[in-house]
Amino acid sequence: MILALESSCDDTSAAVIKDGIILSNIVADQEIHRQYGGVVPELASRAHESNIIPVVDAALKQANITKSELSAVAFTRGPGLPGSLMVGVSFAKGLALGLGIPLIEVHHMQAHVLAHFAQKEGDVRQPPEFPFLCLTVSGGHTQIILVDAPLSMHILGQSLDDAAGEAFDKTAKLLGLPYPGGPVMDKLAQLGNASRFSFTHPRVNGLDFSFSGLKTSVLYFLRDREKVNALFIEENLVDLCASIQETITDMLIAKMEKAIEESSVNHIALAGGVSANSSLRKKFSLLAERKGIKAHIPPFEFCTDNAGMIAAAARFKYDQKLFSSLDVTADPRLPY
Ligand code: KG4
Ligand code: ZN
Repeated sequence: MILALESSCDDTSAAVIKDGIILSNIVADQEIHRQYGGVVPELASRAHESNIIPVVDAALKQANITKSELSAVAFTRGPGLPGSLMVGVSFAKGLALGLGIPLIEVHHMQAHVLAHFAQKEGDVRQPPEFPFLCLTVSGGHTQIILVDAPLSMHILGQSLDDAAGEAFDKTAKLLGLPYPGGPVMDKLAQLGNASRFSFTHPRVNGLDFSFSGLKTSVLYFLRDREKVNALFIEENLVDLCASIQETITDMLIAKMEKAIEESSVNHIALAGGVSANSSLRKKFSLLAERKGIKAHIPPFEFCTDNAGMIAAAARFKYDQKLFSSLDVTADPRLPY
């Protein structure tokens, strides 16, 4: 029975896993950042400090267990915001020391991939078979990962600049949408025409990505159109959302297709906050169908930051007795 904590960015989360089954997965998001149009690190760490005890209490309560029944405490060590990570790391260390149980550090991006192994009672989903390719798309990362085994992953390609989630959030901001823009853009895009406007795809070698050019091209495009019609954004909002979303998701799918052609995997998986995007989910399934392979898309609960995925990763480490010492510290740039 493992208690897992996630506090790498602006979500405070705690989950309990028992024999590989997630019993609870509580997430407290932080409204405060909306008014600033992005995450303010100092405010995030302060919010984690006030959220962590009630969130842990709620996770234990929902799992119907007490602290004394825990076998280990897991936490996100990195990558992430230093102050945010530090809250989870300190809390986990204190709890593990107090209860005399092992401490398990988890890599946030590995956990996004291992979210596919987060099973709930009665879950009929089959996890991906190894080796598989995982497209991990979040607010901070965009990676194509070859997963050989639960704890053996290699990055085949990644963004050279902005992450896909950042591309959604930054272009949404240009359209005057609130932060985080990704989910709002997704919703509006469903009402729009995705082929109404087109934005060029950058040429990037291999399996790497680049998203910063899209933000600039949307910025110049809007500036030119608004010169002629001050209400351009307002009058074309849903088509703009649909067209930008189409560009981002096409760029992701094109590289994923190339990765499938270059490897011999029979399973592909989607992970990270942007995997909640409805267009990406559809295109990902169609890609697998076209290639005659199996696509795995996590339930929404396990897409964005959550401690359930930390618990799923921690369970693999627990089985191999991969414990951390009490000297462990947060590592905002933790390598794979
Ligand atoms: O994995 P995550 O929760 O946090 C990070 O580790 O970054 O990902 C957050 C990102 C944000 O950029 C957010 O806008 C994006 O995921 N996102 C979406 C959707 N839901 C969340 N982007 C597009 N469509 C969505 N439905
Ligand atoms: Zn994340």
